[in-house]
Amino acid sequence: MGYKHIEVKQVAGFIGAEISNVDLSHPLNDDQVKEIRKALLKWKVVFFRGQNIDHAAQVEFTSRFGEVTFAHPLGEPEPVPGFPQIKPVDRRLYEKQYGFRTGGPWHTDVTAAINPPAASILRAVNVPSFGGDTQWSNLVAAYEGLSAPVRALADTLKAEHRFNGSGYLPRNSKFAERIAVNPLVSIHPVVRVHPETGERALFINPGFTSHIVDVSSQESKLLLELFFNQITKPAYTTRFRWNNGDIAFWDNRATLHLAPQDLDHLEVEVSYIAPPSLAMFQLGLMVSAQKWFKVRRSAQKYQPSSSKKPRSWKHNRCFHKLQTTKLGCLYLTQPSMKLEQITI
Ligand SMILES: [Fe+2]
Repeated sequence: MGYKHIEVKQVAGFIGAEISNVDLSHPLNDDQVKEIRKALLKWKVVFFRGQNIDHAAQVEFTSRFGEVTFAHPLGEPEPVPGFPQIKPVDRRLYEKQYGFRTGGPWHTDVTAAINPPAASILRAVNVPSFGGDTQWSNLVAAYEGLSAPVRALADTLKAEHRFNGSGYLPRNSKFAERIAVNPLVSIHPVVRVHPETGERALFINPGFTSHIVDVSSQESKLLLELFFNQITKPAYTTRFRWNNGDIAFWDNRATLHLAPQDLDHLEVEVSYIAPPSLAMFQLGLMVSAQKWFKVRRSAQKYQPSSSKKPRSWKHNRCFHKLQTTKLGCLYLTQPSMKLEQITI
């Protein structure tokens, strides 16, 4: 089936599509939401050019697709004033937080949490004349590109995810020290089943995955090297050149991404929302979307709704089990600590 309410143009061989013929400064109708979701599930990351929406409109747009989270489980950097959902992505803040200005390694957002976000929406506010591209890679294609015996092995494995799992933060940074005192740790299957598409994805990433569990350290190291090479193969990636007002919307259940690595020469600020939880995925997504649309049906323009309470992150120091099924993933969690207890 094609698209009747939006235009979708594929941008790379395995991942990415540009969506046009839609104005995100106005509320979307159900047909538009349905087709954007369809394009997202197929292409894993979708791009909207030149939308020029504000913080409130970004929150409202995001809420059409799921329950919006707090900006970040660690509370750093500070959310945008008045918008607890929005995490500012800014090289200057990176430098303050991490002690360096690069965007860190390839990662999927917040996989150290028990309920990592299902999707993320990034909006460009101020981009440089050169540099600052973001890249994404398709974890489903990466899984399917493995040989059958290695896929079968991966299907049986589980991995630990933790903040600074790869140890890329400088040991003497205050942020690294805080994480060391209050680690955020989860165990996820190496292969997860997407709850909406049923596709299998190689769900590990260099940013958060510390090791494969229940194997030797040498085996873990070699397996991760194999998997990390696989998921970052150029064939499975797309690279996005930002302009002010552009928006990228990606599915964290089927992708990983690489933040800009070449911004030391510039100041950049991007607004960022990490939205729908996959812990309560399907039902929560649909209920919140329907509820919002009933309220907003007659609206002509977005109105700020930042007072809407974002969803909390769940994380704790106990490992949890993640059960994969044909229909998706079901989290069986230990009692979790709240965000504030860990981060402050
Ligand atoms: Fe990210």
